[in-house]
This record gives sequence, structure tokens and C-alpha cells, in this order.
Amino acid sequence: GAARGPAQDLAGRTVVVSAGGTREYLDPVRFLGNRSSGLQGYALARAAAARGAQVTLVSANVVLPDPAGVSVVHVETTEQLRGAVLAATASADAVVMAAAPADFRPTAVSDAKIKKADDGSAPAIELVQNPDILAEISHDRAREGAVIVGFAAETGDATGSVLDLGRAKLARKGCDLLVVNDVSGGAVFGSADNEAVILGTDGAAVDVPRGSKTALAHVIWDEVARRFAE
Ligand code: CTP
Ligand code: CA
Repeated sequence: GAARGPAQDLAGRTVVVSAGGTREYLDPVRFLGNRSSGLQGYALARAAAARGAQVTLVSANVVLPDPAGVSVVHVETTEQLRGAVLAATASADAVVMAAAPADFRPTAVSDAKIKKADDGSAPAIELVQNPDILAEISHDRAREGAVIVGFAAETGDATGSVLDLGRAKLARKGCDLLVVNDVSGGAVFGSADNEAVILGTDGAAVDVPRGSKTALAHVIWDEVARRFAE
């Protein structure tokens, strides 16, 4: 017979996924950016749509084609990402913040292209912190009930292991689930594969062995769907 698709366990659910890396402009032609490819976020959006969800994908500077059957909002800066995520989150059952928002932006954006000085000097760039979108939606009581998922890429340091830092970040952010990647070995950015531990505020720690970003996406939705059922 005809091949069946995946279970429609997200049918009737509205979900928001953010993907990619934000750009913070210095002037009309220059920005600070990061290496996020958007592959994991796009895999999450496609997996949710395949399982029947109505999906809004907030995409920051990703070069991939818009996934079929997904509503895509294209943004560039963290402030634009925040606006689009907050708007879509108002009616969402779940939000997955797979994007890498820039932590800092230049204090001011020059209207005109910044020119070189003749004396060989270079401008100093003053930065301010960007708003933390994940913490904001997690702590917003009006959206209590939505399952909120964050991501963290950690290397571990003198203050703790990758899992220690993940647990601390989960508590600090206030989200329900945190997908922790160990990036000490490098090779996550732009790779088709990923491996992670999914930490839950309920104490859960789900080990996801190295595999495709699509496979990890489905395990994340399994964990979200389990929390819908509770
Ligand atoms: N995040 C966010 N808004 C920001 C920064 C991060 O919503 N301004 C989200 C990311 O999308 C991710 C999670 O927070 O889901 C963790 O991002 P990460 O960069 O690991 O956390 P930070 O709080 O920025 O901490 P760090 O100093 O380790 O970068
Ligand atoms: Ca950060």
C-alpha cells in the first residue's frame, strides 16, 4: 500500500520555531553575525509540519529554501527576531528557540557607511546586550501552558561540566526543556548531524546519540508532545 507519513500527534497544535543567526548592523553595509546555519531549526519546522502542526518559522539570515507547508517570517536583527517570536508566541502551544540571537549589538547604527580615517586609526565599537527572548517568553505568565524549549551549545569550563552548565542555564532561562549540545569537539555548525542531551525541569535527561538533525528534531517533538499529554 501507500507509504504512511509520521503519526499526526501534533495535529491541532500551533508551534513556533526560530532558526538561524541574527545580524547586528554597524552601518548600512556591515554587521556582526555568527555561524548558525539554521539547519536544526529548519529540521524542527519540517518535522513539526510532517506531524500535523501549524508551524511559524522565524528565520534569521538562513540560505535554505522556505519549507513547504510552513509559514516563514524572515528577520535580520535580534530586535526583529524578538518582535516576530513574541507575536507568534501569543497563540502558540509550543516555542522552540533554535536560533542564535547575537548577545550584543552596537550601541548605535550609523546611517552612513563608516569611512576609513587617513591616519590609519580604527573606530572602537561599543556594544550593549540584546534582550533575552527565551527568558522573556519563559517568564511571561500570560503564556503559561505553552511548552518552551531552548538550545545551548556548551564546552564546559572551570566552573562546571557541559551538563552542569546546561542545568544552570535551564534554571536561569525558566524554559521547560533545554537541548544541550557539547561543542568542545567543534563540528556542529553547518553539519548535517547533531548529538545532544535534552534536559527537563522535571529532572529528565534524554540522551540523543549522534544522528541527523531531523532525527534530533523528532526526539524534541516527542518530548514536547509528552508534555502536551500531561
Ligand atoms: N537566546 C535568546 N535570546 C538571546 C540569547 C539567547 O532567546 N538574546 C536563546 C537561544 O535561542 C537559545 C538559548 O537562549 O535557545 C540559549 O542561548 P545561549 O547563547 O546558550 O545562552 P545565553 O543566555 O546567551 O548564554 P551564553 O553567555 O552562554 O551565550
Ligand atoms: Ca549567547
